Amino acid sequence: MDSPGLKIEIREQIGIITMKRPQALNALNSEAINSLQLALKSLPKFPEILALIITGEGKAFIAGADIKELSEMGPAQAFNFSSKGQQTFERFEKLPYPVIAAINGYALGGGCELALACDIRIASTDAKFGMPETSLGLMPGFAGTQRLPRIVGYGNAIYLMTTAKTINAIEALRMGLVQEVTEPGDLLKVSLEMAQKITKQGKYAVRAVKEMALRSYSYDFKNSSELESEVFAGLFHRPEADEGMKAFIEKRKPKW
Ligand code: CAA
Repeated sequence: MDSPGLKIEIREQIGIITMKRPQALNALNSEAINSLQLALKSLPKFPEILALIITGEGKAFIAGADIKELSEMGPAQAFNFSSKGQQTFERFEKLPYPVIAAINGYALGGGCELALACDIRIASTDAKFGMPETSLGLMPGFAGTQRLPRIVGYGNAIYLMTTAKTINAIEALRMGLVQEVTEPGDLLKVSLEMAQKITKQGKYAVRAVKEMALRSYSYDFKNSSELESEVFAGLFHRPEADEGMKAFIEKRKPKW
């Protein structure tokens, strides 16, 4: 089953979504987000699914939101883009079964945020993680400001988001950003083995654990991620963001 920019396969009780826009390192444009929404819509047609894996084709998991598309946006469009991405990621998070991010290569910005909305993250040794939005004069807009501190702790989250530093899989493991690291050639195999392990547990027990663990996120999460869209959109009023994104597209350092 294919939609623009992604493929869904079902292997027995495991769904696999592969992002397929390798020429742009699977960067999330509006079309890719629409495809993720379509994929979410189609998942209930497969009641046999007990775990889902998300991965990327080529040398990236997802290198972030599409900067070329973002650079054309004004504040109102940026707000809508951020809200749509947040809603889509939240629907992954709320799926009744565990979702595993199988992270090959780059998981930056919005790509790291999608991985954060998954329940478990497995990285290949060549994976690279980061929240480089501030280097573009932007900030995470897919609820990364809310999920990252909950997963890696406040200090690590601020460190990653304010330095725009990229870290490798071992550093990500040390921070608790990923649960396992594997050789690149074994990533899908290890992810499938973990998914199979999940499918062997009590189906309702696994659902209940996920539902209750998600409740540990406070009520404030929703309000804060809504506010994140507003603050994200506010940055589009500033020349800094224009310059940051333009510099990326023109393959040069921003002048600010
Ligand atoms: N958006 C749009 N296009 C992207 C992209 C992105 N996030 N990341 C990579 N690409 C494109 C490149 O522009 C390039 O396209 P062309 O061949 O047409 O020039 C192609 O993918 C291959 O990328 P590179 O040539 O740059 O590959 P590289 O190996 O030299 O570098 C990289 C890889 C370090 C990941 C680099 O591409 C990069 O820094 N990408 C941007 C990462 C980033 O800043 N992500 C955050 C985006 S903002 C965001 O995500 C906001 C949010 O939360 C909502």
